[in-house]
Formats: sequence, C-alpha cells, structure tokens
Amino acid sequence: MKTMLSGIKPTGRLTLGNYIGAIREFVKYQDEYEMFIFIANEHALTVPIQASELRKNTKDLIALYLACGLDPEKCTIFLQSDIAAHAQLGWIMTCMSGYGELQRMTQFKDKMAKQETGITAGLFTYPPLMSADILLYDPDYVPVGVDQKQHVELTRDLAERFNKRYSDTFKVPEPLVTKVGAKIFDLQDPTKKMSKSDTNPKGCIDLLDNPATARNKIKSAVTDSLGEIRFDPENQPGLANLITILSALTDEPIESIVERYQGKGYGELKKETGDVVFNFLTDLQARYQDITSSGKINEILNEGAQKASKVANKKIAKVYRKVGLTI
Ligand code: AMP
Ligand code: TRP
Repeated sequence: MKTMLSGIKPTGRLTLGNYIGAIREFVKYQDEYEMFIFIANEHALTVPIQASELRKNTKDLIALYLACGLDPEKCTIFLQSDIAAHAQLGWIMTCMSGYGELQRMTQFKDKMAKQETGITAGLFTYPPLMSADILLYDPDYVPVGVDQKQHVELTRDLAERFNKRYSDTFKVPEPLVTKVGAKIFDLQDPTKKMSKSDTNPKGCIDLLDNPATARNKIKSAVTDSLGEIRFDPENQPGLANLITILSALTDEPIESIVERYQGKGYGELKKETGDVVFNFLTDLQARYQDITSSGKINEILNEGAQKASKVANKKIAKVYRKVGLTI
C-alpha cells in the first residue's frame, strides 16, 4: 500500500467549499492509502496568534475532520507539536536550504509584496519545516492545494540534496495537487470561489453555521433571469453552483438532477438544495458535538502520536547519525 501524508494548518474555520473540494476527497483516500494526517500547529505560530485561539482552532479542526469521516482506525491522526522530531528535522532542513532558494518561494514573496506588517522569520523558514514534516514519514504522495506545490518541490530538492550529500535516507515524494472534487463558488458572487475570508457572509456557508441560516443562504443565492434549468457554468454560474452542491452532497449525477428539473423553477431547486444542506449540516454538527463532548480527542491524538513517533523517531535518529550530531 502506498503512503500519503498531509498537514492542515489550524487557522480559520472550514467552509462547505473546503468540504466538497478537499475534505471529502481526503476521506476517500484513507481506504486506498496508508495515511498520516497531522495538524500543523507549529506552522500556525508563523503569524501572531493568541494561545486560546490556537487551542480552540486545533480542537475544532480535529473534531470537524473526524465528523466529516476521517477515521482514526484507518489513518494516523496527530498533532505536529507532539512529535519533537518535526522541529528537530526542521532545523536540519533549514540548514540544508539556500537563503536565495527560500526567497524564491512565491507564497513568501506574495506576503512580502503585500507588505503585511509583522512578517516573522518563521514565515520565511517555514517551507523547510514543512519538508521535515513530510520527509520523516517517507510518503509516496502529498496531497496539497496549488499554493503548496512549490513547497513540495522544495522538499523533493532537499531530499535529493541530503541523499546525495550523506547517503540514501529519504524517499522523494510526489505532490498530488488536489483533484478538486468540485469547485464551489460564492453564493452572492458566483464568479468567485467560496471562501472563509469573504466579506459578505451570505456568500459562504461555514460547516458550523446554524443549519437554518445556511438554508436561507441557499434560498437567497444569486442566480439569473434565463428561467430554464440547465448546467451551464459559463452563462448560469449561480445555478450551476447550486446543482454542483446538490450533486456533491447527494451523489446524484448532475445530468440526472437537470433532467428531473425540466419544466420546473429555480425556487424548487433552491428548496431541495437548501434542505439537503440543512440535513447535511445537522448530521455533521451532531457528530461534531458528540466528538467534542466525548473527551475522545485527547485519546485519539495520544494514539496517533504513539504510532507516528515510532516512524519519526527512527528517521530522526538515522539523520542525527548521518550528519554527525550523534557521537
Ligand atoms: P484553503 O481553506 O483555501 O486553504 O483550502 C484548503 C483546501 O480546500 C484546498 O485543497 C482547496 O482547494 C479546498 N477549497 C477551499 N475552498 C474551496 C472551494 N470554494 N471549492 C472547492 N474547494 C475548495
Ligand atoms: N503548509 C501547509 C498549508 O499551509 C500545511 C502543511 C504543513 C503541510 N506541513 C505540511 C501540508 C506537510 C502537506 C504536508 O496548507
């Protein structure tokens, strides 16, 4: 079985777009791959964040991922900071990276160009920490969004550099740019991706939104005045977005939905989609509440850390020997 690893930064909240475009795919992967999933909480420190907020985001994120179907029986779920080897190998990878090489990382350049205040050195050196996260576990694949592809390519370069300078130590991983299950658009401006940074909250459905509020957001979604139900993302983007959401949450093919709606109005489609979203969120949030109140999160993380540390500790010991830290 091939191995897959991914990290998720505990910042912000998750949207219906995150679920349909990414989390749902992730949940499918756990049957096909040996999976390591960790919360990249050390990466969250690259921008100033309050301790209480980081704690809350971390717990929410784990509970939501579990509620979405990530199964600790099938994959190893853990906290980055529970395994010291991440920071240990992170330092070594920082020392393997060129200063100029890190200056070329587009995500860093974008942040600098926006002249955001309070740029930390951690934001600059975070790609080698990400490389360490990956290389400790010898994964075959690393599923990431496009914005992270360059960091996985850096990881490949660092792995090859280390293997050449010392001797074969790391598997060189492949990025797997998330084959976006479906892209979900803003409900108020369907030319824009649904995103938690939206200025208009009516355009975005949060996985922790009140289900009735979410249903209303679907009902007031922007459509068009053509008055005919077709799946035409170019000319009827708002309608196509609703059909995509309905199809994703029910697994009914798009063509079948369009056929069922021949001769019917947008109102009916909005009602059905709204009800499906309502039920989806109601069930998801019930599981989320169960997990949150069960006190099981710590137990799951402890077990995950135990499994992950076996792999990571072996690798870091090998690296320490090869570079000469162990005498
Ligand atoms: P982000 O929250 O933007 O960092 O994205 C995390 C993951 O969710 C990435 O793999 C994105 O491709 C996916 N994602 C975020 N927003 C959407 C959306 N509106 N539709 C589909 N996928 C999304
Ligand atoms: N940098 C990633 C992000 O911002 C999160 C991350 C950290 C990650 N370490 C990783 C992703 C290792 C994949 C593999 O989304």
